[in-house]
Amino acid sequence: MAALKIKDISFRYGVEDVLKTISLNIGSGQLVSILGPNGSGKTTLLKNMCNILEPHEGSIDILEQSMDRYSYKELAKKVAVVHQSAEHDFEFTVEEVVLMGRYPYLKRFQNESAKDLKIAEESMRKTSTYHLKNKSIKAISGGERQRVMIARALTQETDILMLDEPISHLDIKYQMEILKLCKRLNEEKQLTIVTTLHDINLASRFSDYIVLMKEGEIVHFGKPEDVITTENILKVYELDVELFMRYSYPWIVPE
Ligand SMILES: Nc1ncnc2c1ncn2[C@@H]1O[C@H](COP(=O)(O)OP(=O)(O)OP(=O)(O)O)[C@@H](O)[C@H]1O
Ligand SMILES: [Mg+2]
Repeated sequence: MAALKIKDISFRYGVEDVLKTISLNIGSGQLVSILGPNGSGKTTLLKNMCNILEPHEGSIDILEQSMDRYSYKELAKKVAVVHQSAEHDFEFTVEEVVLMGRYPYLKRFQNESAKDLKIAEESMRKTSTYHLKNKSIKAISGGERQRVMIARALTQETDILMLDEPISHLDIKYQMEILKLCKRLNEEKQLTIVTTLHDINLASRFSDYIVLMKEGEIVHFGKPEDVITTENILKVYELDVELFMRYSYPWIVPE
């Protein structure tokens, strides 16, 4: 089954197209990374994929159903999103923020049940944030907040998880922890994961497929060994790199 079917979408903020007739199919249970230079349109593509932005042309199907046929809550049961940077204006505790992930399952004015609390606790434990649960979301570090937002997304129990630069504020230990967690959820629960990343080597190591973007277009899509080549990196990043094979995946070092 296709988790995401994107057909010929274009998007612009002003007059110029930021996404230029993009098509992409992502199968259920895949782990896909979107790579590309700053400003190439990764975040914009991700926001189109989860209905925060609406494409000006083209169509998007989520789990074989057209995006516009989902209600807000129904879509939130299928797709969870962790944004590049989240602003928090209110003094919620970490636990309260994580519990917000249960929102699509609650009726109006209904409180969270013991089951909801249990799911939130499990998500906090998986992301090593349980010890922060009573702290204010405003009083924790950027990396801790990033893990809390991933915990909230997991609490949503969706089929698809979209992440925008999920490891950008994390130290090397948590970068690995989060990507390994993604891989585990992907393999054990067939969770479809679409994530933007800047680290080409980590993307190569953890992804089934890689989307390489440049100036609003997908210039390459395929398995890491087919997409991560010295020619493609030079073309997209204007950077000379040396390429090694590490086990079965490519590994690059800038020259
Ligand atoms: N809200 C906005 N209004 C106008 N232009 C925008 C807006 N957001 C992004 N852009 C522009 O659209 C283009 C794509 O931006 P986008 O955020 O999708 O890039 P990105 O690939 O995610 O970059 P980064 O690696 O820096 O996160 C850029 O040229 C950017 O300046
Ligand atoms: Mg971005």
